[in-house]
Amino acid sequence: MMPFDDKEIRLLLVDDEDGFRSAIAKRLKKRGFNPEEASDGEACLQILSQKRMDVIVLDVNMPGVSGLDILARIKQSDENTQVILLTGNAAISDGVEGIKTGAFDYLTKPVEIDHLTNKIRQAFEIIHLEMENREELEYREKLEKKMIDAERLVSLGTMATGIAHEINNPLAIINEAAGFMKEVVNSPEMAANPKKASLELGIDKIEKSIKRARKITHQLLGYVKKEDFKLSRVDLKALLHETLGLLKKEIKDKEIEILWEMEKGKNILWSDPYQIRQVLLNLLSNAVHALGKNGLITLSSKETPLDIVLVIQDNGAGIPKENLGRIFDPFFTTKSFDSGTGLGLYVVHKIITNLEGDIDVESVPGEGTSFIIRLQKQVENNISQ
Ligand SMILES: Nc1ncnc2c1ncn2[C@@H]1O[C@H](COP(=O)(O)OP(=O)(O)O)[C@@H](O)[C@H]1O
Ligand SMILES: [Mg+2]
Repeated sequence: MMPFDDKEIRLLLVDDEDGFRSAIAKRLKKRGFNPEEASDGEACLQILSQKRMDVIVLDVNMPGVSGLDILARIKQSDENTQVILLTGNAAISDGVEGIKTGAFDYLTKPVEIDHLTNKIRQAFEIIHLEMENREELEYREKLEKKMIDAERLVSLGTMATGIAHEINNPLAIINEAAGFMKEVVNSPEMAANPKKASLELGIDKIEKSIKRARKITHQLLGYVKKEDFKLSRVDLKALLHETLGLLKKEIKDKEIEILWEMEKGKNILWSDPYQIRQVLLNLLSNAVHALGKNGLITLSSKETPLDIVLVIQDNGAGIPKENLGRIFDPFFTTKSFDSGTGLGLYVVHKIITNLEGDIDVESVPGEGTSFIIRLQKQVENNISQ
């Protein structure tokens, strides 16, 4: 178990004898604890309605509502809260009764302070351990999910790349045939043909569709080949500026504000600028897309000795929970046929994993989305495609 600081313990002392209570509180503070005080059960419950407590030291014998009733109500409101009862010497049976109701333990008055501090720590250990277990479980679940996602992405990706290859050949043939047809339609002997205009229209549609299909296959196949991989100095901030420049029309039309919170004078990577720019472009264009008028994109970064974490945050539409697990899949899109291909994030994910980085997403529908990218400062020169 990770060690804890006594100060972390949210501790409440409940006793109606002011002198006794403040003396104990004072001595606990001296030993590094941080207790709050309540002079009766009502005050105790009042505090609990405002915030959680970890450990409550509770006098059983108080006027008004009995200590045991308070105990029951504390346990009802949060069963994780640990209660140490203080009983008079003559009323040990109260203590036993209290344990049945869920108290952690009881001490008889007069209380020896070291005894009390030990009990408080023991009681908090239970909570601390639970907290750690919960955190570990959450972490494991997250990791497992990420691994499943990654596996699925790899197999989807392999399939998509295969299809893209297969489609490129017939696409080239269709394109050539369309070019030939165009020549025929434009030849002098067709000039007087009444069907000329509709043939031209048909060919035009074929060409547009080829372009779209090409865009898709190129996105799937078309990042830098291994031999083109260029390892060079990448100024992340300059690259962001450059990429925003490519989106400048939309940013201006929508009056989107860009907030820079990048760490000063740093943000230098040794990596492949073309791939990083592709990542930035895909993420930023999604952010711009998700924003309405007067939206905000916040760009922030943080460095550790080995990597840079870049966060691209927008306050746009957000991503519904049921879509969060699918946004990196190839062809997953919520956009219309001509505004989205569903390949942007797939490519982003692929590039970043190739560069041995990491990407995470956090999103609240109606509030916005953050993409958190961790990039190694120094990428090895043997990255494969
Ligand atoms: N910043 C964002 N805000 C809200 N939704 C987003 C954001 N980025 C991505 N998405 C969602 O993820 C989907 C997939 O994104 P992407 O792979 O780039 O494909 P496309 O943009 O072509 O749809 C989008 O259609 C959208 O639903
Ligand atoms: Mg996109």
